[in-house]
Amino acid sequence: MQSDIAVLPGDGIGPEVTHEATKVLGKVADIFGHKFDFHEGLIGGISIDTTGVALTEETFEMARGCAAILFGATGGPKWDDIGGTMPSNRGLFRIRKELQLFANPRHIKMLPALVNCTPFKSETVEGVDLIILRELIGGLYFAEPRKQWSTAEGRQAVDTMFYTEAEIARVVRVGFELARGRRKRLMSVDKSNVLQTSSLWRKVATEVGKEYPDVELSHMYVDACTMELIRNPRELDVLVMDNTFGDILSDEGSMLCGSLGMAPSASLSGSPGGKVFGLYEPIHGTAPTIAGQDIANPLASILSAALLLRYSLELFDEALAVEAAVNAVLEEGYRTADIAEKGRQLIGTKEMGQRVADALTSSRN
Ligand SMILES: NC(=O)c1ccc[n+]([C@@H]2O[C@H](COP(=O)([O-])OP(=O)(O)OC[C@H]3O[C@@H](n4cnc5c(N)ncnc54)[C@H](O)[C@@H]3O)[C@@H](O)[C@H]2O)c1
Repeated sequence: MQSDIAVLPGDGIGPEVTHEATKVLGKVADIFGHKFDFHEGLIGGISIDTTGVALTEETFEMARGCAAILFGATGGPKWDDIGGTMPSNRGLFRIRKELQLFANPRHIKMLPALVNCTPFKSETVEGVDLIILRELIGGLYFAEPRKQWSTAEGRQAVDTMFYTEAEIARVVRVGFELARGRRKRLMSVDKSNVLQTSSLWRKVATEVGKEYPDVELSHMYVDACTMELIRNPRELDVLVMDNTFGDILSDEGSMLCGSLGMAPSASLSGSPGGKVFGLYEPIHGTAPTIAGQDIANPLASILSAALLLRYSLELFDEALAVEAAVNAVLEEGYRTADIAEKGRQLIGTKEMGQRVADALTSSRN
């Protein structure tokens, strides 16, 4: 099978971790007899420095024309504060919005080898396997007005929380579809006791739920859910929520699998199950303080590449093989600094990527 894959590494540790993910994808192609053509482009701060904008038309069109996008991360102190508008993120936001990547499943899975790598008791995190499905192109992060201004009484600012019924229904539907393929439990998370958008969210989720009688739907307020996520994470399966809540809860959730460096994500234009276009990225950012030191954990990026194989290329065996290779390397005791453990061998970004690629080879021999 031949596939074109856009690779947008971005800033900070983005290029380091993305390079390891493409290394692993290249090995998948060799072993399974595919041809992946990687098309690399600039995005974010590095694109601003080189071209004057966070994403050129040329790069946008290139990415749109591929089967999927492998993305690193964008931003950093050099660009984030320009006018308070985070210009380096505009490239990513444009891709998400214009390509309608509204559904963002973020996978939080505790791999058995890492059960002692979290701040939690092992019995709390053992077996955790949940998805935080974040609505990605609506709500507080996109709606207008959003601005700051000065008045005689001091500075003021506004952001807008806005959702349409259709925007809620389509992401909730993806939640039901994901839940159907798992433990058939969907939790819709909102703040419907306070927010009008959340009240609509709960009504729409309940209505859509009638189409899925085989999936058990429950609702929880977001504040209670932040607690439930660390109190009883093993009970949770698929959680669907708006853009802001999903952003925050998924970072919290990443601690359940050891590190931000272990949590992959997909940004999809529809339900998984057919070949769906998507952008694949680790949920972490550019981690500027550790960039360029060969110490970042590339596994979230590698696991995002596995999601790319599964959701956009429908290469299910290949996706499983990558996940098994990650597992094997961790079981052998190799760790990057963020998941370091006494008695385990500390290795760098490149070596971790290479070891996963090598484990992939040997797992097929
Ligand atoms: N999708 C994106 O491109 C995206 C997402 C989040 C943040 N950002 C940007 O990233 C920059 C830094 O943001 P931040 O510090 O809030 O979040 P961050 O995710 O970059 O880092 C948070 C913490 O986790 C650590 N960390 C993150 N990824 C790691 C990895 N793979 N291995 C080891 N440790 C890792 C960092 O060192 C840091 O201590 C900002 O400019 C922000 O705007 C971009």
